[in-house]
Amino acid sequence: MTGKIPQEFINELLHKTNIVDLINNYVHLTKKGNNYLSCCPFHHEKTPSFTVNEQKQFYYCFGCTAHGNVIDFLMNFNNLKFLDTIEELSNINGVIDTYFKFFNTAKKKYDKKIHLYQLLNKISVIYSKNLFFQKYNFSLIYLKKRGITEDTINRYAIGYSDNYSENFKKKLILSDKKKISYFIKSGVLIQKKENFFDRFSKRITFPIRDSIGRVIGFGGRRLTNVNPKYINSPDTILFNKKKILYGLYEIKKKYKNIPWLLVVEGYIDVLTLSEFNIRYVVSTLGSFISIYHIQMLFRETDNVIYCYDGDHAGNIASWRSLKMTLPYIVDGKTVKFIFLPKGEDPDSIIHKKGKKYFEKLILNATPLSKFLFYILLKDINLTCIDERSKLIVKALPLISQIPSKTTKNLLKKYLGEKIGILESYYLDKRINIKKNNIFLKKTNKLRNTTMRFLIGLLIQNPIFVKLISHIPDIKHTIKIPGLYFFLNLVKICINYSIMNTAQLIEYYRKSNQFNVVKKIAKWNHMIDEKKKKYVFIDSVKNLKKIILEHTYENLIFKERSQGLNKNEKIKLWEINKELSKI
Ligand code: UTP
Ligand code: MN
Repeated sequence: MTGKIPQEFINELLHKTNIVDLINNYVHLTKKGNNYLSCCPFHHEKTPSFTVNEQKQFYYCFGCTAHGNVIDFLMNFNNLKFLDTIEELSNINGVIDTYFKFFNTAKKKYDKKIHLYQLLNKISVIYSKNLFFQKYNFSLIYLKKRGITEDTINRYAIGYSDNYSENFKKKLILSDKKKISYFIKSGVLIQKKENFFDRFSKRITFPIRDSIGRVIGFGGRRLTNVNPKYINSPDTILFNKKKILYGLYEIKKKYKNIPWLLVVEGYIDVLTLSEFNIRYVVSTLGSFISIYHIQMLFRETDNVIYCYDGDHAGNIASWRSLKMTLPYIVDGKTVKFIFLPKGEDPDSIIHKKGKKYFEKLILNATPLSKFLFYILLKDINLTCIDERSKLIVKALPLISQIPSKTTKNLLKKYLGEKIGILESYYLDKRINIKKNNIFLKKTNKLRNTTMRFLIGLLIQNPIFVKLISHIPDIKHTIKIPGLYFFLNLVKICINYSIMNTAQLIEYYRKSNQFNVVKKIAKWNHMIDEKKKKYVFIDSVKNLKKIILEHTYENLIFKERSQGLNKNEKIKLWEINKELSKI
């Protein structure tokens, strides 16, 4: 049909969904005063700083400043796109059919996804069973030879794939020809002219599961070292390599608190370490770490250790991971690195040297600060003044990205010592120029002017729009910062019968004012709850006065420069009268 979701429908969804109930399904909320409280699901913490306000239908974390309405919560928590979130909310509220009416292709996509989850799950079961068939006994022997026991095989649902016809033809496809296109979309089947091939044919298979355990793709290893040794599923509507960490689901299923997470390159590294009872290990599927990965890691734990292969590529990955992680180091988070001996990976080294040795590597992992300065100081001769300034130029942009004040200060102090500036004022000044970390984006402090109060209070209490009786007509010649933004807010609140902050925010999602509105929604105006209504009424009065004064001045100016017509003269007289009343 139209292909576009009407704003009213989204508004209605927000009206139907109570943010407290919804978030309570994901994290345990307890009531405290006007708010609900819990540990933040967007960063790892021990004392709760995540608040949900029922009246505003808004959440805000004092620790990491994550904030938004129900839609933002679902988008961020589940890594969903906007439309997928609306779909999910429609589903929760039993109006999925209405949603599909607006968005025909979404219905198809939804059905397709459900179908693909089921299909991939069936495929995974077939692969798993193969491993234990007598005729594929060599695959089990291969795994055993690599030290992988049946317990691990079961926990990670490892399997073996033979060719397409053996795997699927009899069992799945012939019964339903339409399924072929789904097989291709799942990333498992490859079509070459008239023929079909199983992408993972003749490979050990490692199902890759999402956060709730659904199979979304596979990795496959040949039993010999022929090229390509490993292959992964291509990106599909379910699978995105950048957004998945192999092994995380299996850890989360078993452990509630994850004290640390070790990031390795390969599947086998995860499995082997697990064999040695080193359990908190995830793999990036051989690709570079992404910001999604880093967010996922810090959502689960406070301590991340990168442990890449002991080769050139591994070193590059370590440095790259360091740079990408800097903006996520809030107070309490640590990042460390393990550098393995040349030519080794976690799997090989633990087999060679044993568990104790590997545990020592974890215990003595290199802290971020040490690795950072090791790299920065590598080609710098500190006895030369020019070289010292080179160090500042290289170091400050990196250090300034760290949100944690403690870590930043320690690194700054260390840098100061290295270059012989013990007076930290100079470095502070340089650092403050570049406050570009993700948690401090554009924090222009909101000033408590009339306009600020009006905008802030209305966004936080859209229902206050009813307190505005009349705003004088204005011409666009009046230059009061924020005035037109406020008038637009008033218009939206009236025209769309906005009841709460969450609904109001939604009207701005596609506008470039979205972030501003969200920021104001969590602005602390410091006004007593009971008094805020009167502050608002007073501010409206004040605004009317300011508008009248501006109009009056404009008319006076016009009279002096070009004279006024009859209507304008009447207006001037009326304004004069009104102003004398206020
Ligand atoms: P490695 O080549 O380091 O393999 O790739 P490995 O972990 O040592 O594996 P084994 O011990 O030989 O079995 C690390 C990861 O990179 C990806 C895979 O995810 C693998 O686990 N990779 C590797 C590929 O995607 N394709 C390849 O051809 C090789
Ligand atoms: Mn290996």
